[in-house]
Amino acid sequence: MEDIVSGFKSIYDYAPEAVCFAPGRINLIGEHTDYNGGLVLPCAIQLGIQCAGARNRDKKLRFYSTDYPEEGIIDYPLHSPELRGCWADYPVSVVRAAASLGYSLDSGADFYISGDLPEGAGLSSSAALEAATGVMLRTLFSIPLTQQVLALLGQFAENRFIGVNCGIMDQFVCAMGKAGHALLLDTNTLSFNTVPLGNAAPVIVNSGVKHSLAASAYNDRRRECETARGYLSVPSLCSLTPEELEKRLHMIPDEICRKRARHAVYESERARLGAEALYRGDLHSFGQLMNLSHASLRNDFEVSCEELDFLAETAQGLPGVYGSRMTGGGFGGCTVSLLEPEEVDNFVSAIRKAYFSRYGKEPDVYPVSAVDGAVSTFP
Ligand code: GLA
Repeated sequence: MEDIVSGFKSIYDYAPEAVCFAPGRINLIGEHTDYNGGLVLPCAIQLGIQCAGARNRDKKLRFYSTDYPEEGIIDYPLHSPELRGCWADYPVSVVRAAASLGYSLDSGADFYISGDLPEGAGLSSSAALEAATGVMLRTLFSIPLTQQVLALLGQFAENRFIGVNCGIMDQFVCAMGKAGHALLLDTNTLSFNTVPLGNAAPVIVNSGVKHSLAASAYNDRRRECETARGYLSVPSLCSLTPEELEKRLHMIPDEICRKRARHAVYESERARLGAEALYRGDLHSFGQLMNLSHASLRNDFEVSCEELDFLAETAQGLPGVYGSRMTGGGFGGCTVSLLEPEEVDNFVSAIRKAYFSRYGKEPDVYPVSAVDGAVSTFP
């Protein structure tokens, strides 16, 4: 917190009024189900985005990020700011989303942003940035936003202004996460339960792979799911149980859409069974479900890649690992493995070594824990 306050002062030459933190996330199971009305089981993590902010008198929105010091301060007019194709479009889109809800700002604001969440690694750095902006607007301008509305605001900003057709999972857990717990979220109704992680240690491994076509491939998957849903004449794919789907699979004439539907329906069921296993403290069963999830994402949904397969399969064979899978949208990014806490140190060195001998580079590895959703404080 001291760093972020002094960082703000060094850039803007006065003290911030508020600071806030918004976490990134991992998804333990329930991937590519959130736009199919299914279940997801993510948790917020301690890696995230910190923001210091204050109102200004210049009718300008100003942004500075420690990740892009060479870009300096980026400023936009307070009213009807146009997007520029740079990182600051994310917070600006949240300001625009708030304005379209009727919350126009009555003065400009200065933002100083910093964080330890790797960008483009599938850990929801965009959702964290959106949540941090929303919390800062709420704090500085006394806008009455609940945590849940904050999540919807972030998703609206991303869908409407950034043009990424994401579901609600990332924004929801960045805002609503609970320490020590995952959230079992029904993306059809937004009802959720908190599920204790118990004595399980999640570890993230970043493959370092970034797929340039990830956004368009994501939209392709959404379209294929929508086509399958249309053939089945159901309100959403995940409104079907696996048994109901099996009886109707013949209604989908093309193999690709059949595979996508199979993944979504079974994956949502795995999230349901996984939450039950966690409630029982049955980490072995949970781990098996994670492994099945990875196989389904690789074979039926086809969003994995060689490096993620290597990391998940290697992890699955290491001592003390309950299960391992890719996490997030895919096409690169990270795996998450769930471990016995005593085995974390050995796991970290073993997986680094294995990846290095295969690909000639050391992956970043982060043991993480589940934390609360986005919050603000006053310095
Ligand atoms: C991305 C999207 C989420 C979700 C996941 C896949 O993270 O932002 O809404 O669809 O991919 O589960």
